[in-house]
Amino acid sequence: MTSLFYNLDSDTALAAQLCRSLEAEAGTLEVRHFPDGESYLRIHDPCKDRLCVIFCNLFQPDKKTLRLIFLADTLRELGAKQVLLVTPYLAYMRQDKRFHEGECVSSRPYARLISQAVDGMITIDPHLHRYHSLSEIYSIPTIVVKAAPLIANWISHNIENPVLIGPDSESEQWVSEVAELASAPFQILEKQRFGDYQVSVSSPELAPYHAHSPVLVDDIISSGRTMLETIAHLDQAGLSRTTAIGVHGIFAGSAYTQLSEKANVITTDCIPHISNKIETSEALAKAVRQLQPV
Ligand code: R5P
Repeated sequence: MTSLFYNLDSDTALAAQLCRSLEAEAGTLEVRHFPDGESYLRIHDPCKDRLCVIFCNLFQPDKKTLRLIFLADTLRELGAKQVLLVTPYLAYMRQDKRFHEGECVSSRPYARLISQAVDGMITIDPHLHRYHSLSEIYSIPTIVVKAAPLIANWISHNIENPVLIGPDSESEQWVSEVAELASAPFQILEKQRFGDYQVSVSSPELAPYHAHSPVLVDDIISSGRTMLETIAHLDQAGLSRTTAIGVHGIFAGSAYTQLSEKANVITTDCIPHISNKIETSEALAKAVRQLQPV
């Protein structure tokens, strides 16, 4: 039987591409608010014994998570055979440690919540830093789609003679893979974060790369401070205009305006934005098929 596909997000372009790639049936959902602000949700499809895929991109997660839980729970109550979540961006992964006494390590309760709600999850490059794999906190089957081959492919077609820069030690896992696939040299810098908007990044050693095009690669662009600090070093070294590539372009506040003045900003379509140039729907569809029973 054809899978049912529900888009709980406003990202209609990626959701539609994914639904098409999966040859799934777009489910009909009625979602609104009661006058008191609580959510109303109704499914208009027979979902008994069907495989159901929920697309809910969990950036700005606090607004979306409750609806996701309601939808997944209703699908299960109505007899769905399997409920899979596709979230290109996985929220709360950066809260992976109690940095100050009394802080909530929100990655853990969030993982428990999602693990109880759905039967499996597909995401793209979650921020794995102190956790080495999602299975340390998620108790359901998960598939991590890697953006590295997609980014390497984009670089190979668009940038001549690139040198890749990773702004911090966490970025090495992505940057080294992109560099290998794009046959380019790379350098990893050291970052210190002092607050949401205060970061310092070490200076790169760029003497051997004066004729190269600098390409900065990171998983998340949020305040943009990490990229801006790194671009300042690259500019100082007299290299050509930087291309700044992010897997997940969150662009809080004026981050995009500030960044686009200094660099060519490119993102995957994980989060809808005018900088999206790298498509992920085929890779996501492949991962969904891997988690669906035959
Ligand atoms: C964290 O270490 C991530 O890899 C990114 O470097 C970070 O999230 C970027 O955040 P921002 O844009 O706020 O500097």
